[in-house]
Amino acid sequence: MRDDVLLDDEFEALLVYLRDQRGADFTGYKRPSLTRLVHRRMRTAGVDTYADYVDLLQVEPSELSALLDVLLINVTAVFRDPGAWAELAESLLPEALSRLDPTEPIRVWSAACATGEEAYSLAMLLHSLLGDEAYRRRVKIYATDIDERALAVARLGRYSAEALEGLSPAQRDTYFEADGTMLRFRADLRTSIIFGRHDLLQDAPISRVVLLSCRNVLMYFTAETQTRVLERFAFALHEHGVLLLGKAEMLLTQSQLFTPVNLPQRIFRPRPRAGAGRLAALAVGGQGRDATLRRAAEAAFVAAPAAQVVLDSGGTVVLLNARAQRDLRLTPEDVGRQFGDLQLSQRPLELRGSVAAVQASGQAVELRDVAWAPTQGEAGRWDIRIAPLTVNDEAQGVHLVFEDISDRHELRQRLGQLDGELTTAYEELQSSSEELETTNEELQSAVEELETTNEELQSTNEELETMNEELQSTNEELQTLNDELRDRTLEVDRVNGFLHGILAGLELAVVVVDTDYRVQLWNGGAERLTGLRSFEAEGRRLLELDLHLPSEQVRAVLRAVVVDAARPGPVDIALVDRFGRAQSRRLTVTPLQRSGGAVQGAVVTLADTPSAPDARTEAVDRTA
Ligand SMILES: C[S@@+](CC[C@H](N)C(=O)[O-])C[C@H]1O[C@@H](n2cnc3c(N)ncnc32)[C@H](O)[C@@H]1O
Repeated sequence: MRDDVLLDDEFEALLVYLRDQRGADFTGYKRPSLTRLVHRRMRTAGVDTYADYVDLLQVEPSELSALLDVLLINVTAVFRDPGAWAELAESLLPEALSRLDPTEPIRVWSAACATGEEAYSLAMLLHSLLGDEAYRRRVKIYATDIDERALAVARLGRYSAEALEGLSPAQRDTYFEADGTMLRFRADLRTSIIFGRHDLLQDAPISRVVLLSCRNVLMYFTAETQTRVLERFAFALHEHGVLLLGKAEMLLTQSQLFTPVNLPQRIFRPRPRAGAGRLAALAVGGQGRDATLRRAAEAAFVAAPAAQVVLDSGGTVVLLNARAQRDLRLTPEDVGRQFGDLQLSQRPLELRGSVAAVQASGQAVELRDVAWAPTQGEAGRWDIRIAPLTVNDEAQGVHLVFEDISDRHELRQRLGQLDGELTTAYEELQSSSEELETTNEELQSAVEELETTNEELQSTNEELETMNEELQSTNEELQTLNDELRDRTLEVDRVNGFLHGILAGLELAVVVVDTDYRVQLWNGGAERLTGLRSFEAEGRRLLELDLHLPSEQVRAVLRAVVVDAARPGPVDIALVDRFGRAQSRRLTVTPLQRSGGAVQGAVVTLADTPSAPDARTEAVDRTA
């Protein structure tokens, strides 16, 4: 990189670009460290000039986040700089807390908290000092940073064991719970910590904080910027509050706003602010000085925005201002009267006693948040301060200031209410967020289950596809078989037709019976010879049919063939027909055999023979 081209005004132009176009204001940061860090980024990005770097930032969104990563150094740790934390735990914090009303909220601000370790350290410290009940009821820790990504880490409260090495084993066990390989801050104590984005240079400070920790960030700011930030801190701190800075930071500016409590540990307190009582005392002390100053002091006293009354050492009213006449219903005639004679001394409360106590002790007394309606109408809220007036260490009288804080009271109440609503909303948000996380996890596991089911379905589908292919090939084989069968059937039909034709054409009566002598076939010759139609004969026993033959003789021949497997020759049977004529018929029975030789019935043929009425040929059994 050529240093000669790195001109300051180009660098300032880069800062202005970052502030105006990208909302990241580094104009209040110290230049030496800032330029060093920007140079580091430019070297990595391979850019030589600031102008080129601005061009790169314009076209490359990831470069801005890389630059912010470098500039907003997020380094932090739990209980970083243990000496400061020990000082807080042992004396400063218990003392500051003891000055608060036990019902008062304890507001703490961890400014520039980075990834949150400091905020959780504050939570652990306050929890150990206050105990569980008071911590939950009173503590609110506002933890802010400019860097949203650091805040996202902080909000989780989830750290590695190495990141929590600064904790004792007892602290780790008490305040963190295992979460996978990490440790997570206890959810029930986490609700007291509110994380939010806050720019120390732009945003209004958080108010009434008892402990303000702003460490290791002021050192990056110019002296002028530090002044601005410290003024805001002075405003933010409770009057008994404590300011904790980083080990390497000094209060170079604004030392009139803070006083060191422990300089080596960089712990400070706000100096008391000048109030109305102080100015009034100054005005009284001005008596005897030059007339101009006295008149100015009197004019300021008269015009002061709070009602004021001055008593001399004998308790006589010596001064009233305009607001006292308006707000307290006093009149110029009351000047010169004894304070004890005024109605004001008894109402809103017994003020005479407080005035006497101040006169006796020389110590100021403050009566806060007194409900009172000095004029007709609604009761308001008042702060009353009674302070001794001394000139050259000599008691001169008493100064009473009545400040109407009704608006502030209402605002405070509203603020408390809003604070409560905010906490509730925050808690609801957190529980919704947890529910969402649970739902998300459930959805994820449902998705995983669906994925598994899908894979199973896919493999079933593949199996079905294979089966389908097999079935298709079986189907094709069956079709071939079917075609063959059809051909055979046609062939059989043809042969059948052929045989039927032969049988029908025969003059001879042909009958086929099974082994029960049931008729299986009855041809045309049999119909003609017996007068019985085939449908009348087929299926019936042959011997039950009216054949006009001696049935015993026929049975004997049939049995010889079917049962005895004999082969009797033709038998001529003489008979007389229904017209009384002598007839002769030749009966031939041959076995019907399967291919293996087993007898499955018999083939019976009958034919008329032309022999004489008594002529008869005895059956010849060839097997005999
Ligand atoms: C080194 S860390 C300090 C963390 C912690 N306070 C500590 O001391 O351990 C500095 C932090 O200051 C933040 N920061 C820088 N400029 C800021 C600004 N203008 N307003 C708020 N935070 C700022 C950065 O984002 C960073 O997280």
